[in-house]
Amino acid sequence: MLKVGNVLIKSPAQLEGIRKSGEINTAVLDYVSSHIRAGISTEEIDQWVQTQTASMGAVPAPLHYEGFPKSVCTSLNSIVCHGIPSKDVILKEGDILNVDVSTIYNGYFSDASRMFCIGEVSADKKRLVRVAKEAIQVGLMEVKPFRPIGNMGHAIHMYAQSQGYSVVEEIGGHGVGLEFHEEPWVSYVAPRGSGEILLPGMVFTIEPMINMGSPDFYVDEQDGWTVYTGDGMPSAQWEVTVAITPSGYEILSR
Ligand code: MF3
Ligand code: CO
Repeated sequence: MLKVGNVLIKSPAQLEGIRKSGEINTAVLDYVSSHIRAGISTEEIDQWVQTQTASMGAVPAPLHYEGFPKSVCTSLNSIVCHGIPSKDVILKEGDILNVDVSTIYNGYFSDASRMFCIGEVSADKKRLVRVAKEAIQVGLMEVKPFRPIGNMGHAIHMYAQSQGYSVVEEIGGHGVGLEFHEEPWVSYVAPRGSGEILLPGMVFTIEPMINMGSPDFYVDEQDGWTVYTGDGMPSAQWEVTVAITPSGYEILSR
């Protein structure tokens, strides 16, 4: 493994390890996708993630990470990210929920999240969820070796803005693989041409947080984790883990 600045360039063996971790991570999200429904609590999702991850010989990365109390983040409606699963949060028709799953397998980390629309969801929330998903595709079109990472962040910002939405500035993506959070820090409001030059073997997340209203947010003082939109409007986020290859990119978890 090489280091360029503070960014790790993974070896083929390490990439293979992260790939396996990512496959488990994706399988856990697939399980959530096929079981989520109105009437369950977010605590139940936490239990699914624990059970499914353990059944594949892996460990949920969030559990006890810097004191995080659960195995997965579940962020409902106006929660931007880092929502804590609870038996008191019951999913109901019209909700939108982000489920953010991160896995450690054999010492290798992967990270991805999806949005779920519970039952019939209003047209404006549905559009937010769709645009947040499309923002990942728009960003991926700018993920190319030997180009600056800021081209990706810029493209996402411009796309979200063109749809009437804002992008959270202070919380970004991150390198991942040998640790949960590595260099580089990844912005989704970056100027074109800015940031690290992407090199084959880099692994990082694309996970823009797209707000329907203002990009401002605050952190719950009680639990120290839950991030809410400042204006109470909905927020949506999808996340993938990608590796840079000699000719483009490979998605390691989605
Ligand atoms: N999966 C989140 C991320 O994308 C991690 C949140 S930290 C936790 O970075 F402790 F809340 F899990
Ligand atoms: Co992440």
